[in-house]
Amino acid sequence: MARPPMPPVAAVTLCEVLTLAAALGGGVRAQQLSTGYYDGSCPQVHDTVRLIIQQELAAVPGVLAGLLRLHFHDCFVNGCEGSLLLDGTAKLSEKEANPNKGTERLYPVVDNIKAAPEDACPGVVSCADILALAAKASVELMRNLGGAHTYTIGRAHYQSIQDRLYNLKATGQPDPTLDQAHLAELREHCPSATSDSTCLIELDPDTPDTFDNRYYVNLLGKRGLLRSDHAMFSALEEGAESTGPIVGQFASSQADFFQSFATAMVRMGNIAPLTRSMGEVRRNCRVVN
Ligand code: HEM
Repeated sequence: MARPPMPPVAAVTLCEVLTLAAALGGGVRAQQLSTGYYDGSCPQVHDTVRLIIQQELAAVPGVLAGLLRLHFHDCFVNGCEGSLLLDGTAKLSEKEANPNKGTERLYPVVDNIKAAPEDACPGVVSCADILALAAKASVELMRNLGGAHTYTIGRAHYQSIQDRLYNLKATGQPDPTLDQAHLAELREHCPSATSDSTCLIELDPDTPDTFDNRYYVNLLGKRGLLRSDHAMFSALEEGAESTGPIVGQFASSQADFFQSFATAMVRMGNIAPLTRSMGEVRRNCRVVN
């Protein structure tokens, strides 16, 4: 069977990010892409994606943060081409790889999101674009639903920071650069003995349901959760002299953070999309047609 041509994924990706930029008050402009790529072929797709995610809010904890992250995880392995959504066959699939642990709850949501345009306009909206559209809608909802107890900013599994709490670099000691009071709180929340993979910790303990710059304020206060983020300004980390000032800038200016976030999302969404005959619009994002 002839495969339908792949729509230029980047077109929707831009659409996503321009809306994102507008939603965040940023001033991003990119020339090469259209904001209305599906206006003719699947005009309701933006609203439909948003509606479905809204319907999942209560049932799927942290769905907004999770969907935003899926877009990033798709784009960072060989570009934004929807490969993350493929189920494994004989080989380990992307979604089964370690960095994607905890994302299992999101794939049924993606299936639902994909099913709607597949019903209304079959074979038109690509799986990569579904992830881009879902990320865009999630950020819009984060902005609108602030404070609605949706675990908006997301959470980390205890295992991701276990070493910082109990055994940094096999020293048997916690990370000395972590705020002591915060360390005690985190240890109380996830005691080492349990090593419980269900123990989840807010990425932003102060405003977990609001999309804001608080994460950077917390980093400055030595209350950042993930080592990879803490490393951006920690005096103990190589390279922090170049990233530290950016952490300071975002901590003091939410507007700067929003603008840079929007710009970064534009760049990320443009990583190696598959266009036209380079790919196919999968009917089911879990398998090739
Ligand atoms: C190389 C850069 C990055 C690293 C090393 C990194 C690492 C991590 C880690 C270790 C977690 C915790 C996972 C867990 O324990 O379950 C996490 C969570 C998360 N990350 Fe990243 N991340 C990076 C970039 C990004 C980017 C660019 C975005 C957004 C566009 C993002 C969005 C998120 C979100 C929303 C969560 C929470 C997920 C949830 O609650 O389900 N990350 N990240």
